[in-house]
This record gives sequence, structure tokens and C-alpha cells, in this order.
Amino acid sequence: MKEQLERIKKEFVGALEEVKDALMLEELEQRFFSRKSGELTQAMKGLKDVSVEMKKELGQFANVVKQELSGMLDNKKEELENKSFEDLAKNEAIDVTQSPLPKKKKGAIHPMSIIHRELEELFRSMGFMVLDGPELESDYFNFEALNIPKDHPARDGHDTFFIKDHSDWVMRTQTSPVQVRGMLKYGAPLRAVVPGRVFRNEATDGSHDHTFFQMEGLIVDKGLSISHLIGVMKGLLEGILKKDVTIRLRPGFFPFVEPGFELDMVCLICNGKGCKACGNTGWVEIIPCGLVHPEVIKAGGLDPEEYTGFAFGLGSMRLVMQRYGIEDIRHFMKGDLRFLDQF
Ligand code: DAH
Repeated sequence: MKEQLERIKKEFVGALEEVKDALMLEELEQRFFSRKSGELTQAMKGLKDVSVEMKKELGQFANVVKQELSGMLDNKKEELENKSFEDLAKNEAIDVTQSPLPKKKKGAIHPMSIIHRELEELFRSMGFMVLDGPELESDYFNFEALNIPKDHPARDGHDTFFIKDHSDWVMRTQTSPVQVRGMLKYGAPLRAVVPGRVFRNEATDGSHDHTFFQMEGLIVDKGLSISHLIGVMKGLLEGILKKDVTIRLRPGFFPFVEPGFELDMVCLICNGKGCKACGNTGWVEIIPCGLVHPEVIKAGGLDPEEYTGFAFGLGSMRLVMQRYGIEDIRHFMKGDLRFLDQF
């Protein structure tokens, strides 16, 4: 039996030398170690037939041989694995025909948010607070406190969404209610801007939508005049559009300012020639503004003898259109990715 084991070992070593790859190694393993027919396994089975005296010695010998052989097998396995990694690395090359991975889709910031963030930063740097107000507003703050009592014709200019069964609630038609809310909360002197969404029950076209954005501005202090107002407005437009702009002031009527103005700017999309975005006039109404009406100062809990103020209601959506050359206001709310992806 001893000789048999010696012979198996010899054969194993010889065969192992011939092994060149993992497949051959597996065959070798089967040949010697397979549970059923492996040569070593078979030989070891013969142990049960030897005499009791010989069993111990032969058993030990067989185990040593088995350990030796399986050790050699493991070493060979490791050697082959290392070799195959080396081969891989040697053959590795860059496949120039492989197409690039598809670009990951990144979200983008809506153009309205871009401009509001910039405006907020600009105003913050001038010491303004950024205020917020409710979109579902009371009739009082949206109209009454702004010097627009019930039955005032100025209400006709605001096609209002009313709320069923709540006659004193409206979807705010303007950000101006936050003028009064701001004064009541913070008193004077006050500098605040209010970016926000407003709603009107309007037929839509290239320059009108039922939902749009404004940025209200309010300064209340002692001794403010129209020249302060004009200076701030022009600085604001040029700061945000980053070019010289031509503006004009026309008288405008808004019950909460006195005097009131329409501040227009030469349309930057058509350079004043007339296009869809400016209703073919060459001018864009961009900032209605004026000196705060004494009644509104009073509604804000302040004394109009002591305080004056000016206010403006920037059509921030129109400003975005001017900056990016967007010709139709309805693009903003459609959620069309072909539009939104461009920002
Ligand atoms: N809230 C007005 C509107 O939506 C715009 C406006 C006009 C705001 C004059 C002002 C202002 O602050 O002074 O039509």
C-alpha cells in the first residue's frame, strides 16, 4: 500500500507539471481527489483492509501524502490565478470604439428662480429684507388696505380668482399686500422686497398668463422723493440685465401710490422695433411704481406726516423674458423640458 501511495504521489507530481491552465488543474483534481473515483481516494479506501497493527502507521503516512498533494494543488491554483491577472493587464487596451456613457440628466434651476435669487442678493446687498406673504390672501390686504375699497373701479383691472363660499378670500392678484403686512410687522424705517406668485383670471397670450411672478419693493423712511425712486429703479435694471437700458416714466394710476408711474424700458428682444413680447410697441412695461399713498402708510400703522415711502411692483417674469430672449410668457408654466433644459 505504501508503494501504491508513493506511485500516486509520483504520478501526481508529474501530471501537475504538465498543467497549464485552470481547466487542466480541475481535471487533475478530479483524477486524484474525486470522492468516488479519485486515485488517492481509492487508495485510502484500501486502508480498511490492512491489519490493525499496520493501520496506524499507514493511516498516518496516507494523510501526510494527502496533505502534501493538496498543498501542491493549492499552490498551483494560486500561481495560475496570478498569471491570468498578469495576462489580463498585459492585454488591456483602451477601446476607442466604445461609445461614451450616456450623460446623467441633471436637474436645472427654473429661470424664474434664477432671477429671483439674483434679485434677492442684489437687494440684500442694499440692506433690504426679503419677505414672504400668503398666496391665498384676504380681500382686506389684497385690496382694502391698499386704498382699493369695495366697488372701486381699480378692482376691475384685477381679474380676480375668488374662493367659493369665502367671499373675503382671494388668490392674491399682486404682491403689494405684503407692503402693509411688512409695515405692520416691522415698522419703519423699512426696506423690503417680496418675490412671489400672483394670479389673475385672464385670457392668456404671448405676454399674459393667469399665473405669474412679481417682485414687490418697498422703502419707508423720512424724506424720500421721486429722484430716489428713479435712481433705484435704473440701478436695479442695469444691475440685473448687465447693460445700459433706456427707460421712460409715464403717469400711471394705482390707488396705493400718489403720484404713480409706469416705468417702461426699450424692448431688448426687438430693440424697440416691436415684437410679440412687447405687444408690438417696442416698449415693455416693466416697473409700475410710485410714492406710497398716505392711506397705505396709515394702514401699515405708521404716521404719514412723519414717514414717506416709495414702492414698486417689478414684473419679474417680463424681466426674465427680456434677459433670455423668451418670446412667449406661457413657456414658464408648461413644464416642457425642451424649454427648461436650456437654463
Ligand atoms: N401691484 C401692482 C399690480 O400688480 C403693481 C404695482 C404698481 C406695485 C405700483 C407697486 C406700485 O408697488 O407702486 O398691478
